[in-house]
Amino acid sequence: MIALLLANADGPTQNLSIFDPASPPAESIRQLSVLVLAITAFIFIAVEGILIYSIVRFRRRGATATGEPPQVYGSKPIEIAWTAAPALVVFVLVLVSARTLWEVNVPPPQPRERDNTLFATVVGRQWWWEYTYDHYNGRALGFTTANELHVPVSEEGIPRPVFLTLKSADVCHSFWVPRLAGKTDLIPGRINSMWFQTDRTGLYLGQCAEYCGTQHANMLLRVYVDTPDKFEHWLELQQKDRWPDKDDPRLRDERVRAGEKAFLAQSCINCHAVRGTPAKGTYAPDLTHLMSRRTLASGMIPNDPDDRPLDDLKGSKLLEWVADPQPIKPGCLMPSFGLGDRKRGDIVRYLLTLR
Ligand code: CUA
Repeated sequence: MIALLLANADGPTQNLSIFDPASPPAESIRQLSVLVLAITAFIFIAVEGILIYSIVRFRRRGATATGEPPQVYGSKPIEIAWTAAPALVVFVLVLVSARTLWEVNVPPPQPRERDNTLFATVVGRQWWWEYTYDHYNGRALGFTTANELHVPVSEEGIPRPVFLTLKSADVCHSFWVPRLAGKTDLIPGRINSMWFQTDRTGLYLGQCAEYCGTQHANMLLRVYVDTPDKFEHWLELQQKDRWPDKDDPRLRDERVRAGEKAFLAQSCINCHAVRGTPAKGTYAPDLTHLMSRRTLASGMIPNDPDDRPLDDLKGSKLLEWVADPQPIKPGCLMPSFGLGDRKRGDIVRYLLTLR
C-alpha cells in the first residue's frame, strides 16, 4: 500500500501518489490525509513515549527492589482528560471529513451550451473499462470507446470539468485515478457519479480499486488530459465510423479486405463492434478506432504503432493478443479462436487499419 501511495512510475505525470494532486477533489483528499496522519502520528508518539518512559522509569532494579511501586486507584482529572481528549479528536475528524465529502461529492450539473463541461459514462466490466461520451460543451456525442479516457485540460479562466456517471455490467469495481480524484465504486444496479478537473496535460494512471475477480490487478486506468485543440481533434476522429480515411492506400490492400471479411464472418462480431460495419457486439471493447489507443488489454501491454507496416507482423503485440489472449491475461473473457496463420494475419492487418 505504501509502495502504491509513493510510487513514481515514469516521471511526474505518471505517478499514483495521493500526495501529488492535480485536481480539486484530489487536493481536498490530500489535505484530509495530511491532517489525519498528523493527528494520529501525534497520538502514536505520545502513547508510545509514555509507555517507553514507564518501562524505563519503573523497571526492576536488581536486588535492591522490594515489592511493587506505589499503586494509585482512581483519579478524576485523569479520567476526565482521557475521555475528553479522544472525544475532541473524533469531533474534529468528523467535521473535517464532512467538509471534504462536501467538496468531493458535487452533483453533476445539467449539460448546457458553452459551459466546457464533459459528461461521460463509465461502465466497469470484467476486466476493462467502457467509456461512452455523452455531452461536451452542450453538444451531444454518443460514441463508445474503451480503456483510455481522453479529457480536455482546464485553462486560466476556462474551467473544463469532467463529470463521470459510473455503472457496472457485472460485479463491483472502483474507479481510482489518485491524482485526479478519490475512489468511486461502480456497483451493479446503482448509478454513481464523480468529477475532476485539472490544468495540467499529460497521462494520469489509475487502477480498479475494488476486488472484482482474477484480473482485478490488471484492470488499469489511463486518463489522457489533452490540450483543447488536441481533444477536439480526438473527438472528431472518434465520432466517425469505420473507414475514416478513404485515401489511405492500406485500405486497398487485398489482405486487409480479406481480413475484414474474415473478421465479419467470425464470432468476433458477437462481442466487438466496429461502427459502420455489421459488427455490433457490445460485450467487449468497441474496436472502431482501436489503433488510436496506445495499449491493449486495459492498459496491460502496449498496442502496435498506428502506422505499423502491414508486410511483416513479426513482434506485433496485436497479433500476439489475437492469437491467444489467455497467456497474457489469464481468465479474461476473450478465448483463443484457433484460427489458421493466414486468416489470423489478415484479421490483424484489418484491425491495424482501424485508426
Ligand atoms: Cu474491476 Cu477490480
